[in-house]
Amino acid sequence: MSQSEIMLETRALVREFKNPHGDTFRAVDGVDLDIPKGSILGLVGESGCGKSTLSRMVMQLLPPTSGEILLQGENLTALPAREVRRHRLDFQMVFQDPYASLNPRMTVFSTLAEALRQRHPRMRGDSMARSVSELMERVGLAARLMHKYPHEFSGGQRQRIAIARALAPEPKLIIADEPVSALDVSIQSQILNLLAGLQRDLGLTMLFISHDLSVVHYLADRISVMYRGRIVENGPAGEVFHHPCDEYTQRLLDAVPRIAH
Ligand SMILES: Nc1ncnc2c1ncn2[C@@H]1O[C@H](COP(=O)(O)OP(=O)(O)O)[C@@H](O)[C@H]1O
Ligand SMILES: [Mg+2]
Repeated sequence: MSQSEIMLETRALVREFKNPHGDTFRAVDGVDLDIPKGSILGLVGESGCGKSTLSRMVMQLLPPTSGEILLQGENLTALPAREVRRHRLDFQMVFQDPYASLNPRMTVFSTLAEALRQRHPRMRGDSMARSVSELMERVGLAARLMHKYPHEFSGGQRQRIAIARALAPEPKLIIADEPVSALDVSIQSQILNLLAGLQRDLGLTMLFISHDLSVVHYLADRISVMYRGRIVENGPAGEVFHHPCDEYTQRLLDAVPRIAH
């Protein structure tokens, strides 16, 4: 695959922390990933295995101890901080808890307008209202709800707002870290369907993180299985799910309740 077809690549990525005893340990221990443009990579592993630490490094929110992060072949780890900031908009995040990640004092309109202005600083008036409406409809929300506040929506609707906010700056990569883990099972499938539809229609590239292999299998093109900071298995989603090679992947499969689709 040519370099331009790979949106994101990590090479031998490492992040060390100190544990409460003052000993250094590797939360992320030499991770190689690549995410082709327009595809979804599912990253799965039990709680504490290093998924969020990996995603914070990819987001440029946490510096790696060593290793490299490449965006369309450009080595971000080698860039000065000022240049890295230029790429911040290229990465957008969707978190587990949409209520905590949305500002309770901002209407949907202000939240989405602020996100749109990051990429289009002069957008306002009719063109802003149109763009906000389009974004809301894209994520399955009626545009007439744009002047409402987060607490006026259900959990699933709030996650739709968070997804619209992530789409607004036209990012190159969306990182969704456990985006359905806090939702009721019936709502989980609706949000997964929405993300699948967005990938199909917009060609989104996504790193989708979950502790639940059945959720990851539903959405991802490829799956990487993480255990204690390392990738222990990696392959096409169907193969990893139906014919896991690694013993740990098999245990993950046994541990999770299957959700019905
Ligand atoms: N800022 C930090 N300082 C020290 N240890 C951390 C920090 N962030 C995460 N860790 C530790 O790194 C490990 C991986 O955490 P995390 O990446 O959040 O895992 P996951 O998202 O897979 O649940 C855990 O042992 C966690 O306690
Ligand atoms: Mg996490």
